[in-house]
Amino acid sequence: EYGENFGRIQGILMYKDFLKYWNDVETFQARPDDIVIATYPKSGTTWISEIVDMIYKEGDAEKCKDAIFNRIPFLECRNEDVLNGNIIYLCRNAKDVAVSYYYFFLMVPIHPNPGTFSEFVEKFMNGHVPYGSWYKHTQSWWEKRKDGQLLFLFYEDMKEDIRKEVIKLIQFLGRKPSESLIDKIVQHTTFQEMKKNPFTNYTMMPNEFMNQKVHSFMRKGISGDWKNHFTVALNEKFDKHYEQQMKGSTLKFKTGI
Ligand code: A3P
Repeated sequence: EYGENFGRIQGILMYKDFLKYWNDVETFQARPDDIVIATYPKSGTTWISEIVDMIYKEGDAEKCKDAIFNRIPFLECRNEDVLNGNIIYLCRNAKDVAVSYYYFFLMVPIHPNPGTFSEFVEKFMNGHVPYGSWYKHTQSWWEKRKDGQLLFLFYEDMKEDIRKEVIKLIQFLGRKPSESLIDKIVQHTTFQEMKKNPFTNYTMMPNEFMNQKVHSFMRKGISGDWKNHFTVALNEKFDKHYEQQMKGSTLKFKTGI
């Protein structure tokens, strides 16, 4: 059902365009001063990228005026490949990711029709979506947090107290979290600001790749939107499967499953 625009790498479904340079990705070695941002799709990649770039630009938004995907390019890598360098991993509640991913399927025409929401959730649960299983992705990075330089962050924490998370990021990047730097970053990276900023809202992406008439890339930007989408029955099924998939993992979300 995914058709010719998709392929598989080590069993994981992937956009074919991202497989072209897979060899380079496989052999990529980060330098010790590289920063790698790792996320499962729809977990806030764009948000954290803008914050990191603002830290590098010392809070000067004027220096962030290029499409986010040019300033922080995608390196489609498997987690094993990035051995050195500093890694920032951002994860987000699985149900909210599933909702966001569903809408992403609808707006980005390369995807097959996701069907009904519950049909899509079934695919998500089976890892039958690009980038594969959310459960495996998050758990493997969660385990990695122990070795080396890895900052593990939660979308939900960023929603709850962005200043606190921005300070963590500034410190992780070896800089001083002055009040004025924090203020500038926080103001520049609110959902509202990023939604209207052409360099972060993906309006620079041509319509045929991303149809923002369906909805904006910056869709809602909240935690807990899953409650507006999951039926009681679907929720029960999801929770049961989640418990199985995450059995033995100490990774817990403050917002629950
Ligand atoms: P929703 O679809 O739930 O609104 P990614 O960048 O990994 O594709 O993730 C996109 C999700 O992050 C979208 O979620 C988007 O709205 C949300 N997002 C982007 N910028 C944000 C911000 N500044 N604050 C909160 N959420 C943000």
